[in-house]
Amino acid sequence: MSTHIAAEAGQVAPRILLPGDPLRARWIAENFLDGAECYNEVRGMLGFTGTYRGERVSVQGTGMGQPSLSIYVNELIREYAVQQLVRVGSCGALTERLAMRDVVIAQAAATDSAMNSHRFEGFHYPATADFTLLRRAVEAAEAAGSTHLVGSIFSSDSFYHDRTDLTDRLVEFGVLAVEMEAAELYTLAARHDRAALAVCTVSDHLVTGAMTTSQEREQTFGDMVTIALDAMLATPLRS
Ligand code: HPA
Repeated sequence: MSTHIAAEAGQVAPRILLPGDPLRARWIAENFLDGAECYNEVRGMLGFTGTYRGERVSVQGTGMGQPSLSIYVNELIREYAVQQLVRVGSCGALTERLAMRDVVIAQAAATDSAMNSHRFEGFHYPATADFTLLRRAVEAAEAAGSTHLVGSIFSSDSFYHDRTDLTDRLVEFGVLAVEMEAAELYTLAARHDRAALAVCTVSDHLVTGAMTTSQEREQTFGDMVTIALDAMLATPLRS
């Protein structure tokens, strides 16, 4: 039992998917895992463990934004010894090279978050994905024929940002998309020597103004989940 997760030690698998939305966690458990059982309902932040191709995998909602994700990831790492953590979520595209529902595999995540400006006062920390998970995710996306791009993303503390000029600057510097969690996930994984990755699906387009319907989001979310699961299984656990 940890402060925000009601599981017993051993109920959470060493490989875990992290959607922001707890109902997505349930959808993933029901549609992608075999024999999934719920281990957490605290605050409605559902968590499940089942198997994927015979290997134990968990899926845990994290809520929106880096402070919320940070609570769950800290507890998953410190209390439940998870080794591989892959965020699966939505993102807003910043480049016309991305179309709606494309997959973004995040090599690195910049952030405006106070979480990292407080941690690393005086310098900017390079929050980066685990290379093996990244490589295996790219291979899985290629094998599945999913339209995808690999590159940097921006983990914002604000969905409704007052600094709309920031979008232009991010576009100029080749950042592919914006979401709200990956930088903290990558930073915590590095701090605790764990492997992390974020795989996102484009749900809205900050350049063209396009948006997906909730039904489209559900249909295309599956590609990203399969990429994430295949990447984890292709990455060995440390004994
Ligand atoms: N901004 C921040 N996070 C997001 C967005 C966005 O436009 N779309 C999906 N997640």
